[in-house]
Amino acid sequence: MRGLLTLRSLSVPEIMDIIDLAIRFKKGLTVNYSGKKMVNLFYENSTRTQYSFQIAMMNLGIQPLSFNLAGSSVAKGETLYDTVRTFEALGVDGIVIRHKQDVFYKELETIKVPIFNGGDGTSDHPTQTLLDLMTIYEEFGRFQGLKICLVGDIRHSRVAHGNAEVMKRLGMEVYISGPPEFCDDTGKFLPLDKAIKVCDIINLLRVQMERHEEEMKISKEEYHQKWGMTIQRVGAMKRGAIIMHPAPINRGVEIASEVAECVSSRIYKQMENGVYIRMAVISMALEGKL
Ligand code: CP
Repeated sequence: MRGLLTLRSLSVPEIMDIIDLAIRFKKGLTVNYSGKKMVNLFYENSTRTQYSFQIAMMNLGIQPLSFNLAGSSVAKGETLYDTVRTFEALGVDGIVIRHKQDVFYKELETIKVPIFNGGDGTSDHPTQTLLDLMTIYEEFGRFQGLKICLVGDIRHSRVAHGNAEVMKRLGMEVYISGPPEFCDDTGKFLPLDKAIKVCDIINLLRVQMERHEEEMKISKEEYHQKWGMTIQRVGAMKRGAIIMHPAPINRGVEIASEVAECVSSRIYKQMENGVYIRMAVISMALEGKL
């Protein structure tokens, strides 16, 4: 299949090629694919991924098509395959898909048009991982030896699972921290107050209420006190360390409101870099390199 479905099938040099191209776009490289059309099929809610893909398309001269899920034939029972096959027949040049089903693209193996995974279930969010890597690379100029701690709802997070897989291959040390019911084997556990002292990157994760089968066992206030990034914890961070979060953020839960925009936060830089990463993957797919 063409496009970008998972980073698990890309080598480290291939991943670095995407980041390098994104950095070149950020520095002013322009490419024009005028006459091309792409569509965003979002079966789950999204602000950043959906609209940064749309802006990336517009920056590349590509016409983005909007897709209203509720007003589409999905409401009449049309399957993902039939919807994608329809847009292929209509002549789009690329399709971005976010879906709650893990590895949704398995059923799309016969589709020839490039497909970009905008997040599948709890498995992967490859463009988020790439924009996170770009942000880390801009900050530290390397990956090897950096320590990152993924904090929060790791078990339900496609960002945690996708990031950890690639970061380990890049030579980073991946730790996790959070309530026991949210932890899995993504990384070695560190208590949060130890993690903030030793890690270069604190990668907070949203508590994903919509994926929980049961109510969270502790209150939001208790969660914030035990597992949230407070101003006091920012003060105890390793010198030069940064805070990342894929967003949307739950202010007052996993992050104090003032921490979201403090000097150590790179949350809005991550969002900015998302546009350049999505320009890079679209451009590489249209050039037959993905
Ligand atoms: N980070 C992220 O995927 O945000 P959205 O859900 O708003 O796209």
